Amino acid sequence: MTSYFEDLVPGTGMRTPRAWLRSSRPKLSLNGRWQFKFWPEAPVDPIAGDDGWDELEVPGHWVLQGYDRPRYTNTAFPFPIDPPRAPDANPTGDHRRWFDLPDDWPRDGAVLRFEGVDSCFKVWVNGVEIGTAKGSRLPSEFEVGSLLRPGRNLIAVRVHQWSSGSYLEDQDMWWLPGIFRDVTLLARPLVEDVFVHADYDHVTGGGTLRVDVDPSYARILVPELGLELAPGETVSIPSVEPWSAEIPRLYDAHVEAGGETVEVRIGFRTVAMVDGLLTVNGRPLFFRGVNRHEHDPRRGRAVSVETMRQDLVLMKQHNLNAVRTAHYPPHPAFLDLCDELGLWVIDECDIETHGFIYPDWRGNPADDPDWAPMMLDRMRRMVERDKNHPSVIIWSLANESHRGRNFGVLAEWTRERDPGRALFYERDRSYEFSDFYSLMYTPLDELERIGTRTEDVSIDDPALEARRRGLPFVLAEYAHAMGNGPGGLTDYQRVMERYPRLQGGFVWEWIDHGLLLPGATDYVYGGDFGERVHGANFCIDGLMLPDRTPSPGLLELKKVIEPVRITGPEPLTIHNLQTFATLDHLDFLWVEEVDGVEVAAGRLEVPAVEAGAAVEVGMPVQVEARPDLGERWMTVRAVLAKDEPWAAAGHEVAWTQFPLPSAPAEEPVKGGDERLRPVDGKVVFGGGEFDARSGRLVRLFGVPVKGPRLDLWRAPTDNDNGQGGNNSVAVEWRAAGLDRLEHRVDEVVVEDQELVVRGRVAPNGLGLGVRVSYRWRALGDGLQLTVDVVPEGEWEGSAITPRCGSWPRLGVRMALPASFGKVRWFGGGPGEAYADSREAARVGRYECTVDEFQTPYVVPQENGSRIDVRWAELTDADGNGLRVEGAPYFQLTARRWTTEDLERARHRSDLTPREHVFVNLDLAQNGLGSASCGPAATAQHTLEVAERTFTLTFREFGGQGDAAVPSSAP
Ligand code: GAL
Repeated sequence: MTSYFEDLVPGTGMRTPRAWLRSSRPKLSLNGRWQFKFWPEAPVDPIAGDDGWDELEVPGHWVLQGYDRPRYTNTAFPFPIDPPRAPDANPTGDHRRWFDLPDDWPRDGAVLRFEGVDSCFKVWVNGVEIGTAKGSRLPSEFEVGSLLRPGRNLIAVRVHQWSSGSYLEDQDMWWLPGIFRDVTLLARPLVEDVFVHADYDHVTGGGTLRVDVDPSYARILVPELGLELAPGETVSIPSVEPWSAEIPRLYDAHVEAGGETVEVRIGFRTVAMVDGLLTVNGRPLFFRGVNRHEHDPRRGRAVSVETMRQDLVLMKQHNLNAVRTAHYPPHPAFLDLCDELGLWVIDECDIETHGFIYPDWRGNPADDPDWAPMMLDRMRRMVERDKNHPSVIIWSLANESHRGRNFGVLAEWTRERDPGRALFYERDRSYEFSDFYSLMYTPLDELERIGTRTEDVSIDDPALEARRRGLPFVLAEYAHAMGNGPGGLTDYQRVMERYPRLQGGFVWEWIDHGLLLPGATDYVYGGDFGERVHGANFCIDGLMLPDRTPSPGLLELKKVIEPVRITGPEPLTIHNLQTFATLDHLDFLWVEEVDGVEVAAGRLEVPAVEAGAAVEVGMPVQVEARPDLGERWMTVRAVLAKDEPWAAAGHEVAWTQFPLPSAPAEEPVKGGDERLRPVDGKVVFGGGEFDARSGRLVRLFGVPVKGPRLDLWRAPTDNDNGQGGNNSVAVEWRAAGLDRLEHRVDEVVVEDQELVVRGRVAPNGLGLGVRVSYRWRALGDGLQLTVDVVPEGEWEGSAITPRCGSWPRLGVRMALPASFGKVRWFGGGPGEAYADSREAARVGRYECTVDEFQTPYVVPQENGSRIDVRWAELTDADGNGLRVEGAPYFQLTARRWTTEDLERARHRSDLTPREHVFVNLDLAQNGLGSASCGPAATAQHTLEVAERTFTLTFREFGGQGDAAVPSSAP
């Protein structure tokens, strides 16, 4: 026996879908505290009785307010696949709310509007059933006028977590039931619907405006343009300012009918596919985009308008110009903000049937005509709701739902209803219903082929294949930002910018979906409830941590996609990579630094630069070598000249840094004539105290230390782990025993003024390993260590053991006293950086605490490495400690727990500070890649197993500020 939540009917009693409008008519928000009753299985009887109610916040999800629990799966349905049936265990929430109808409420009818209820509900007003609806991320409206009475009224809503609709909502996110968007009572609309068609002619600079309105007796006014027009009338405006994401110019309009006024904001822009490219206002676009799910760590998808604005402000501040609303239409207010702040939007329909991959797509709704009405209903409700947003330039039919003839139905209806926008669907390899060719996580060589239109055939049908080859390409998703990463953003950007056919891409994804449940301090992810079917931490894959702290990946992205590129030093050139705007909104500031200390600064005079153009500007400082100076760097920054709605004047949009010729490195001062003879079982020289037998350093400048000793291991990142199997370097590293290396000392000898410790580092049970020698030499007031590493044995693999071609890291690890809690360094910073994610690191002097040195990824893993460090000082609160110098550079991590602690931890709270500060001084680390879903680090960024040597110098540091400045500094 099927019930309304299991049939293939989108809803009952729903009004015809229409635009989201801001009206002058009375309205009453029904958000707030509602009565609530939870049922583990769907009850049969209607909602009744005044007893046994708890309370709950609406909008909200009951699973985040103490009832049942949230479920996270990636592709798997958390119920048996038997469409359209729901399981008996169908968590259901009954919601009730009394409200007072205002005395002056118009008597001519009313509409009850839900912006989003997950996943199916039935609603009663004053005890009378008025309808049902499915389509979680879509609005539904019901006529309720005749049921309302003066004074108190009762609304009751029964929400089922699972329904036939759930088969269309398998979007790699938490399954979060409930009334999670606004509920509003509206006075009956007099202006029923509005559809603005506002085109821009880039040749004449004029606009064309037509506004379709129901009812046809309405009037449309655009005061700023002095226009008054009738519904359906087309007017030409000789000169108008166009809308673009770069210059989001909006004109206010009013639509009036029968005493109701509706406010609409008009953006003039024309979307067209021209010569195989997507153009807006005559110019091909380039997406610097991101995929955004709605997420708040405490409220789930019930995001506030402030949070939406915060998301968009952060996107703009990080140079993003486009957002794909993965994988459902967002709250309608979000699109208003996109219009206002300026972002290109791919608005995606609430359809994903990914879980049908398990029965090999048997029964996939997308290819079953019985499901066409449910799917078309979703498309209509999205298009009708969002059709007036200039920011929305592309409708996306769905995500990852395989091929299916129902997409033909959706595409046909949409093209007819709204010929003014492009259509997008990635997962049908014929691209029959899409205006774009698109893939996800495409490797770089494949991307190159697509750029040159030499990619492999994707579909046998020659006509469809020929059509597909003519389409522009957009990377629907790339650069999976899970945990530490993504690596390789620059490589992607370089290829995407090279070929016109590649119109940019959308990073996966905006924010980690970590949830903070009531009373908890750790973010949860799949598996934290002991559930059997879950997607683990695959939802922790955002450019921001769940609390919206930008992760290093977002800072890297900001740098890589900057809309202005500055190159130099000669000629110093400013390239405007935007599509429409000049650079008049920017100031260009420069600073010259020597050894990280500013010596000169100023402002560049930059003439007007049109979009797509470049200008050369005079170099403000001398480029010739200055032998009297140390390491010289020039930094040029482009900052906002005045406040913008999304950032204050001074906000940095782009920057570059280049070295200026400077003094050659100083010859190291040779060590003294110290005697390296053991006394009382110790060798003491150059500030170090060594155990004569083991060659171990035990004290450095009087401070007890452990190490340094060779370290090849790091706590694998999500990208190291990849998806297991052969795309996982961590699997390879573990197979080679890199996570369990044993150290052996073979000899401790004195050779040529050096204390030399030779040994072998290798895992139990395997024949491979490395020969290592540590050569210690006194150097002026310091102690110099040179480490030589020679791999031996079966790194190439044997009949039994697999090949291991790379090392996670190559360096030494030391343990210093816990009091050494401050880090100061000259090198790349301020944040973490790795071989293939280092664009955002600029050379300078930085300082922070060891605690601040960490990036608190939700799932602990290798993090916090600073790159190209020339010198670093690790000191106690009084500034006393140790200075380490590279030759010339090293990579630095410092933390209060060991690599093994980091590796074991599943949540942040598993990490507790130990009695030491553990420091890794690396020659290099392996790149990051994005193999958690995509390609691994490229060969160029791989730390290959090979013979290597590196040198570090340790000095005592008695930290009075400038003592740290090398003698060559001014
Ligand atoms: C894509 C999918 C996204 C997400 C991503 C990996 O295949 O469209 O929803 O699952 O992979 O995180």
